[in-house]
Amino acid sequence: MALLETEDLTHVFPDGTVAIEGINLKVNAGEFLVIAGPNGSGKTVFARHLNGLLRPTRGRVLLDGEPISKDLIGARKKVGLVFQNPESQIVGQTVAEDVAFGPENLNLPADQVATVVEESLAAVGLSRFVTRSPHALSGGEKRKLAIAGILAMNPKIIVFDEPFTGLDYPGVVQVLKEILRLHKNGHTILLITHELEKVLAHAGRLVIMHGGRLVEDGKPETVISRVENYGLRMPLREGEKVGSLTWLK
Ligand SMILES: Nc1ncnc2c1ncn2[C@@H]1O[C@H](COP(=O)(O)OP(=O)(O)OP(=O)(O)O)[C@@H](O)[C@H]1O
Ligand SMILES: [Mg+2]
Repeated sequence: MALLETEDLTHVFPDGTVAIEGINLKVNAGEFLVIAGPNGSGKTVFARHLNGLLRPTRGRVLLDGEPISKDLIGARKKVGLVFQNPESQIVGQTVAEDVAFGPENLNLPADQVATVVEESLAAVGLSRFVTRSPHALSGGEKRKLAIAGILAMNPKIIVFDEPFTGLDYPGVVQVLKEILRLHKNGHTILLITHELEKVLAHAGRLVIMHGGRLVEDGKPETVISRVENYGLRMPLREGEKVGSLTWLK
């Protein structure tokens, strides 16, 4: 049985915008799946359904075969979502409090919370900021803080929505290494990104969304040859021209 499954998942906003339509996706435990698609294709709306932040207009999301609508709190424990906009994820007065918020809500004992906070901040390189206000962090640091907050919850499935936006090169490397470490440790990873060249060599599967629909789903080496049909750019080898069909492994 799939760990995560969406059936005919459809979301129509009150203004009539059909953000996603008829999405059927099955994700097995331990997969590393990349989701790409042009701006406005429904990636973020889709992600927000996976832990019940949005409720479907039609269709459903299943975790371990059970509809998440039966247990939304359980769904939030199992599926961690690192938001595209890290500002909207800030909950604490200090960096340490911000990361502690999740594990405290899971009722972990205080000494365990302290350890988890320390480890999560170290994993993203933010240990030196424990007492600072999250609002006083730079954009890239806020993004790393949002990732630390999810690490602290230790969810089975982690959905990263554009985790590389605004990061400098060492930041990209650090976040990518952390994602790979999580995958190696058995977490199921869904990674939404435009930056295919950074991640495709590691992905087991590539899904493309277009106009709110899931239009491609398969092995990266197969799907990649079709991405230009959807207004996406092929990842390039260094020195290659835009439009090249070679995929860098
Ligand atoms: N609250 C809302 N009301 C109406 N339409 C919305 C709302 N939120 C999102 N949409 C629309 O739903 C569609 C999908 O948006 P979504 O944010 O999922 O796109 P995306 O694929 O994540 O894009 P990006 O690559 O820019 O992050 C867009 O057309 C967007 O304008
Ligand atoms: Mg988005």
